[in-house]
Amino acid sequence: MGIPLSLTVNGQVVNVDVDPRTLLVQLLRETLQLTGTHVGCDTAQCGACTVHLNGRAVKACSMLAVQAQGGVVTTIEGLSQDGALHPMQAAFRECHGLQCGFCTPGMVMASVQLLQDKPAASEQEIREGLEGNLCRCTGYHNIVQAIQFCQRGSVAASA
Ligand code: FES
Ligand code: FES
Repeated sequence: MGIPLSLTVNGQVVNVDVDPRTLLVQLLRETLQLTGTHVGCDTAQCGACTVHLNGRAVKACSMLAVQAQGGVVTTIEGLSQDGALHPMQAAFRECHGLQCGFCTPGMVMASVQLLQDKPAASEQEIREGLEGNLCRCTGYHNIVQAIQFCQRGSVAASA
Protein backbone atom coordinates (compact mmCIF):
# COMPACT_ATOMS: atom_id res chain seq x y z
CA MET A 1 0.00 0.00 0.00
CA GLY A 2 1.24 3.47 -0.88
CA ILE A 3 2.24 6.21 1.50
CA PRO A 4 0.72 9.63 0.88
CA LEU A 5 3.50 12.02 -0.03
CA SER A 6 3.21 15.77 -0.39
CA LEU A 7 6.06 17.96 -1.56
CA THR A 8 6.80 20.87 -3.86
CA VAL A 9 8.72 20.19 -7.05
CA ASN A 10 9.86 23.09 -9.19
CA GLY A 11 7.25 25.32 -7.59
CA GLN A 12 4.35 22.89 -8.07
CA VAL A 13 2.68 21.11 -5.17
CA VAL A 14 2.73 17.36 -5.76
CA ASN A 15 0.51 14.91 -3.89
CA VAL A 16 1.09 11.25 -4.71
CA ASP A 17 0.92 7.83 -3.10
CA VAL A 18 4.28 6.12 -3.24
CA ASP A 19 5.64 2.73 -2.41
CA PRO A 20 7.81 3.25 0.68
CA ARG A 21 10.79 1.82 -1.25
CA THR A 22 10.54 4.40 -4.04
CA LEU A 23 13.71 6.43 -4.43
CA LEU A 24 13.48 10.18 -4.87
CA VAL A 25 15.03 9.85 -8.32
CA GLN A 26 12.37 7.30 -9.31
CA LEU A 27 9.63 9.64 -8.17
CA LEU A 28 11.11 12.46 -10.23
CA ARG A 29 11.85 10.49 -13.39
CA GLU A 30 9.14 7.84 -13.47
CA THR A 31 6.18 9.40 -11.69
CA LEU A 32 6.69 13.07 -12.52
CA GLN A 33 8.44 12.50 -15.87
CA LEU A 34 11.22 14.92 -14.95
CA THR A 35 13.86 12.99 -16.86
CA GLY A 36 16.46 15.75 -16.82
CA THR A 37 17.68 14.19 -13.58
CA HIS A 38 19.82 11.26 -14.70
CA VAL A 39 20.81 7.94 -13.16
CA GLY A 40 24.41 6.97 -13.76
CA CYS A 41 25.35 4.58 -10.99
CA ASP A 42 22.51 4.17 -8.48
CA THR A 43 25.13 3.93 -5.74
CA ALA A 44 25.67 7.59 -4.79
CA GLN A 45 28.97 7.89 -6.64
CA CYS A 46 28.47 9.72 -9.94
CA GLY A 47 26.27 12.70 -9.04
CA ALA A 48 24.19 12.49 -12.23
CA CYS A 49 21.06 12.45 -10.07
CA THR A 50 21.89 15.63 -8.11
CA VAL A 51 18.89 17.83 -7.28
CA HIS A 52 18.25 20.41 -4.58
CA LEU A 53 16.14 19.49 -1.56
CA ASN A 54 15.30 22.39 0.71
CA GLY A 55 18.10 24.38 -0.88
CA ARG A 56 20.81 21.74 -0.52
CA ALA A 57 22.26 19.53 -3.25
CA VAL A 58 21.41 15.86 -2.67
CA LYS A 59 21.89 12.69 -4.65
CA ALA A 60 18.37 11.62 -5.46
CA CYS A 61 19.38 7.98 -5.97
CA SER A 62 20.51 7.71 -2.39
CA MET A 63 17.36 8.78 -0.61
CA LEU A 64 13.81 7.62 -0.42
CA ALA A 65 11.04 9.75 -1.86
CA VAL A 66 9.33 9.75 1.54
CA GLN A 67 12.39 11.46 3.03
CA ALA A 68 11.40 14.48 0.94
CA GLN A 69 7.99 14.62 2.67
CA GLY A 70 6.93 18.27 2.96
CA GLY A 71 10.12 19.38 1.25
CA VAL A 72 10.94 21.68 -1.63
CA VAL A 73 12.72 20.04 -4.55
CA THR A 74 14.33 21.79 -7.49
CA THR A 75 15.47 19.79 -10.49
CA ILE A 76 17.34 20.96 -13.57
CA GLU A 77 13.95 21.62 -15.20
CA GLY A 78 13.14 24.14 -12.47
CA LEU A 79 16.37 26.08 -12.61
CA SER A 80 15.57 28.38 -15.52
CA GLN A 81 13.27 31.32 -14.82
CA ASP A 82 10.71 32.67 -17.30
CA GLY A 83 12.36 30.78 -20.14
CA ALA A 84 15.82 32.22 -19.44
CA LEU A 85 18.65 29.87 -18.60
CA HIS A 86 20.04 30.06 -15.08
CA PRO A 87 23.44 31.83 -15.18
CA MET A 88 25.15 28.51 -14.43
CA GLN A 89 23.42 26.85 -17.37
CA ALA A 90 24.38 29.77 -19.59
CA ALA A 91 27.98 29.52 -18.38
CA PHE A 92 28.16 25.80 -19.20
CA ARG A 93 26.90 26.59 -22.69
CA GLU A 94 29.28 29.52 -23.13
CA CYS A 95 32.35 27.61 -21.96
CA HIS A 96 31.50 24.27 -23.62
CA GLY A 97 31.28 22.66 -20.21
CA LEU A 98 29.71 19.53 -21.65
CA GLN A 99 30.14 16.98 -24.37
CA CYS A 100 27.61 14.14 -24.23
CA GLY A 101 25.64 16.02 -21.58
CA PHE A 102 24.88 13.01 -19.41
CA CYS A 103 26.52 14.39 -16.28
CA THR A 104 25.46 17.96 -17.01
CA PRO A 105 22.18 18.31 -15.07
CA GLY A 106 23.78 16.97 -11.91
CA MET A 107 26.95 18.94 -12.54
CA VAL A 108 24.97 22.18 -12.92
CA MET A 109 22.91 21.55 -9.79
CA ALA A 110 26.05 20.77 -7.79
CA SER A 111 27.80 23.85 -9.21
CA VAL A 112 24.96 26.15 -8.23
CA GLN A 113 25.20 24.85 -4.70
CA LEU A 114 28.97 25.19 -4.74
CA LEU A 115 28.86 28.90 -5.56
CA GLN A 116 25.99 29.51 -3.14
CA ASP A 117 28.19 28.12 -0.38
CA LYS A 118 31.41 29.69 -1.60
CA PRO A 119 30.87 32.56 -4.04
CA ALA A 120 34.61 33.26 -4.21
CA ALA A 121 35.75 29.64 -4.44
CA SER A 122 39.24 29.18 -5.84
CA GLU A 123 39.92 26.83 -8.74
CA GLN A 124 41.14 24.25 -6.25
CA GLU A 125 38.00 24.63 -4.15
CA ILE A 126 35.85 24.28 -7.25
CA ARG A 127 37.66 21.09 -8.22
CA GLU A 128 37.26 19.73 -4.69
CA GLY A 129 33.62 20.79 -4.62
CA LEU A 130 32.93 18.72 -7.72
CA GLU A 131 34.45 15.55 -6.31
CA GLY A 132 31.03 13.95 -5.98
CA ASN A 133 30.18 14.47 -9.64
CA LEU A 134 31.82 12.38 -12.36
CA CYS A 135 32.19 13.29 -16.01
CA ARG A 136 33.44 10.74 -18.52
CA CYS A 137 33.93 13.21 -21.36
CA THR A 138 35.30 16.63 -20.60
CA GLY A 139 38.32 16.14 -18.38
CA TYR A 140 36.63 18.74 -16.14
CA HIS A 141 38.66 21.64 -17.51
CA ASN A 142 35.76 23.36 -19.27
CA ILE A 143 33.40 22.60 -16.40
CA VAL A 144 35.72 24.44 -14.02
CA GLN A 145 35.99 27.26 -16.54
CA ALA A 146 32.19 27.46 -16.75
CA ILE A 147 31.88 27.78 -12.99
CA GLN A 148 34.55 30.49 -12.96
CA PHE A 149 32.73 32.25 -15.81
CA CYS A 150 29.53 32.17 -13.75
CA GLN A 151 31.49 33.41 -10.75
CA ARG A 152 32.77 36.42 -12.70
CA GLY A 153 29.25 37.15 -13.96
CA SER A 154 27.89 37.06 -10.44
CA VAL A 155 30.61 39.42 -9.26
CA ALA A 156 29.87 41.77 -12.17
CA ALA A 157 26.13 41.65 -11.46
CA SER A 158 26.60 42.48 -7.78
CA ALA A 159 29.20 45.22 -8.36
FE1 FES B 1 22.96 8.97 -8.08
FE2 FES B 1 25.03 8.16 -9.53
S1 FES B 1 22.91 7.98 -9.99
S2 FES B 1 25.03 9.29 -7.66
FE1 FES C 1 29.62 13.37 -20.96
FE2 FES C 1 30.06 14.67 -18.69
S1 FES C 1 29.69 15.53 -20.65
S2 FES C 1 29.68 12.56 -18.96
